[in-house]
Amino acid sequence: MDLDNLLHGARIRLTAPQPDDVHTWQRWYENSEFVRLFDARAAYPRSITRLQALVDDLLKPTDSYPFAIRRHDDEAMIGFCDIDAIQWTNGTAWVSIAIGDPINRGLGYGTEAMRLLIAFAFRELNLHRLQLTVFSYNEAAIRLYEKLGFVREGVYREALHRDGQRHDMLLYGLLRREWAF
Ligand SMILES: CC(C)(COP(=O)(O)OP(=O)(O)OC[C@H]1O[C@@H](n2cnc3c(N)ncnc32)[C@H](O)[C@@H]1OP(=O)(O)O)[C@@H](O)C(=O)NCCC(=O)NCCS
Repeated sequence: MDLDNLLHGARIRLTAPQPDDVHTWQRWYENSEFVRLFDARAAYPRSITRLQALVDDLLKPTDSYPFAIRRHDDEAMIGFCDIDAIQWTNGTAWVSIAIGDPINRGLGYGTEAMRLLIAFAFRELNLHRLQLTVFSYNEAAIRLYEKLGFVREGVYREALHRDGQRHDMLLYGLLRREWAF
């Protein structure tokens, strides 16, 4: 049996969120570009209290697994990913990922973190199906998901309204048998 460390990649690792991480989240949420890529709700800064409630909710032990993404040589959180809303009877869950600062994007960290997250979901949690939504204008995220094997399964047509334009939200899914272990 291969007992490698599931949560360590070549350059990054998936760790537990730490209390201080909520301040990093708050800084990311001050950038409306980030929010408009990641969140369908209004792009406005979130208070610590509100973000803390979100993290506390994610830390409920039974149906979600949130991770802070950290470089091996650095304790700072560069991103966040999670497995959420798990339905244990069906083996399904939602996944999400974000690399917070634009300077850290396009460097392969998202690919590495997503691979670790998927491996954890299929090898450790024994899930059967992962799903996610992504906005039609988020080219980097679409490229990331398709390259890892996620299949476009549906379109929430004109689900977003931004700057006077409607945008689609895409549904992607990945089955356990489609993942190259
Ligand atoms: C989406 C996101 C997680 C991708 O992580 P990343 O570290 O930037 O991506 P990577 O460097 O691993 O690149 C993944 C792929 O996307 C491509 N890519 C990266 N930036 C791109 C861009 N701006 N436009 C098009 N493709 C892009 C890369 O070339 C790579 O494909 P390749 O291997 O074929 O070359 C990251 O950009 C991010 O967090 N964005 C803001 C929040 C967000 O959008 N989250 C996802 C919500 S669904």
